[in-house]
Amino acid sequence: MGQVRNNLIETDVESAAHILRNGGLVVFPTETVYGLGANAFDPLACARIFEVKGRPRFNPLIVHLADIADLPRVAQLHPEAEVLAQKFWPGPLTLVLPKQNCIDGIVTGDLATVGVRVPAHPLARALIRASGVPIVAPSANRFMSVSPTTLEHARAQLGDAVDAYLDGGPCSVGLESTILGWIDGKPTLLRPGGLDPRLLEDMIGSLAPLPTGSGKVIAPGMLARHYAPRAKLYLETDPQCPQSGDDDVILLCIQASPADRRHFRQVFELSPAADLRLAAAALYAALHTIDAMPIQTIVARLAPAEGLGLAINDRLRRAAAPLH
Ligand code: TXA
Ligand code: MG
Repeated sequence: MGQVRNNLIETDVESAAHILRNGGLVVFPTETVYGLGANAFDPLACARIFEVKGRPRFNPLIVHLADIADLPRVAQLHPEAEVLAQKFWPGPLTLVLPKQNCIDGIVTGDLATVGVRVPAHPLARALIRASGVPIVAPSANRFMSVSPTTLEHARAQLGDAVDAYLDGGPCSVGLESTILGWIDGKPTLLRPGGLDPRLLEDMIGSLAPLPTGSGKVIAPGMLARHYAPRAKLYLETDPQCPQSGDDDVILLCIQASPADRRHFRQVFELSPAADLRLAAAALYAALHTIDAMPIQTIVARLAPAEGLGLAINDRLRRAAAPLH
């Protein structure tokens, strides 16, 4: 097995690690979403990630580590970051920290910082450990499309453009990691995600909102439109939103009422018990499922704006944003 194989293979951890060490790309499970992995120390392999995803180069990649002890190899720590890493890793939290020299500009979009996390999925950690190198991994979807929460979602989008697939079942969190960075020394939420920001605030006090209009690149890759399904998605609050149900319109909501069911012919409930963790885990799978149905229009109802509801609403707003 000295070579990277260019056909579609479902593989085991040892073979996948071998492929990564040899410059290949492997789709692997994390607790948030499936990642498209490459050796973080191999700029050519990193460059291939951008080609395969069709993703612009300025959008930086997150470096995944097997253990918190490996963090000083890739980034510079400070006390607040250390508190959060100790508390929440492994888990769905990415910290943006000053990078070490060994991290190439292809990984960071030429920023002086790097996003780092230790994923909680046992197969992800086993793969990174077996590779012996940090692994960069964006979500394993084509640029702007819905992130994969099962191997099948990733395979449907990336096919044989990657070297191997590692199956770990459905992702338990189902939304990308929460990203925290420090801007002018203040902890700042760069992307709401699978870790409730209130848990971060319990540890380090309140988080600063993302500054707007400064002209500085703070959170590259946070494009207005993203995570978008094929069907046109309207927020229910949008005046343009269709008011009720033809056959090709579906209501997507956390919990549907009897009135919703009278009003819309088709309803997709993310969590009948209104549990936001279950709703988050089900959101992308719902969008993938709806995309496979003859549905042209999705009417989406926002979640309560707290905890994981913030991340769910962020994804719904981006899915609803116009292309330009
Ligand atoms: O849950 C996740 O984070 C998943 C799994 C696979 O780990 N990965 C993921 O990666 O969502 P991706 O490439 O889809 O999102 C990476 C985002 C970038 O778009 C950017 O917003 C932010 O992370 N990011 C990465 N490095 C950064 C940096 N140095 N400064 C600011 N933002 C950064
Ligand atoms: Mg992504």
